Amino acid sequence: MPTTQATAIDHNNPWYILGAGAMGCLWAAYLTLAGFPAVLITRTKRNGSNIQLTKNGHSQSITVKQITVSEVQQSALNIKQLLVTTKAQQTLPALTDIKPNIDKQATLLILQNGMASKDIAKLLPSQQLITGITTDGAYRTSELTVVHAGEGETLIGDRHIIQYLPKQFLSIKYCDDIDSRQWQKLAINCAINGLTVIYQCRNGELLDNEKAMARIQLLCDEITTVMQALAIDIQNPLFEQTVHTLNITANNFSSMYQDCKQQQTTEIDFINGYLCNEAKRLNISCPENQRVLASIKQIEQSYA
Ligand code: PAF
Repeated sequence: MPTTQATAIDHNNPWYILGAGAMGCLWAAYLTLAGFPAVLITRTKRNGSNIQLTKNGHSQSITVKQITVSEVQQSALNIKQLLVTTKAQQTLPALTDIKPNIDKQATLLILQNGMASKDIAKLLPSQQLITGITTDGAYRTSELTVVHAGEGETLIGDRHIIQYLPKQFLSIKYCDDIDSRQWQKLAINCAINGLTVIYQCRNGELLDNEKAMARIQLLCDEITTVMQALAIDIQNPLFEQTVHTLNITANNFSSMYQDCKQQQTTEIDFINGYLCNEAKRLNISCPENQRVLASIKQIEQSYA
């Protein structure tokens, strides 16, 4: 993903936000509060124009502009700045829907779990794609009500863009090795998310499950082999990083657990699925990741 060329970004251009889930609503609210024009793109018309944002027990109502996908399609809108907060599995269809309205030179900031970036680069080859990784925790209690539950950190693979982001409300930092950080995040998601579905538990409960911990060790060993083959810098052993994440998110239900509870397609193809494809390309065997992938696929197929 190109991250070094200068961004053609402008303070006066609105940030369009694709993906009106918890992260999309959170960013729409903070961009607006920071004085940046922001427009939330929604699939269906929402009731009301205010986002209710709660943090540390304090709530505020923020008026955020909204536009539906069909309104975008029927307009001559030329989007120059797009924040993508869709789930990885929804990203390509969502971007395809509004592709004619995305400027050829647009800047896209992609903030999501999983590795959808190669697919996005194929769909939008001339646009500038910037990766962001966040550990902020947010959830919605209704369509436009979002709780900023855990203050984390957002790392961005482009220095210039940071001045156009709400850094007074979120801890946003430039990261010069975003690809490696994205891989560490992928590794942790590979090691945790599927198992929370398989064992039907909160993240922290995996720590007390001997069988699950043995599987996490195997998953981490396989991912380490793939990352080493790709010459990706691994800062700390992946197993240690995973245990740390399990401890600090012990009470959370992983995003994949929540998707499965709502019988929704998960990010598995862009997490363990992506890892397995890379491993196959490199001729590395990853049986434990394959097992997790197959189990989640089977659960998804049982929804119907
Ligand atoms: O996908 C998630 O839920 C999170 O990335 C993580 C780190 C597993 C914590 O819940």
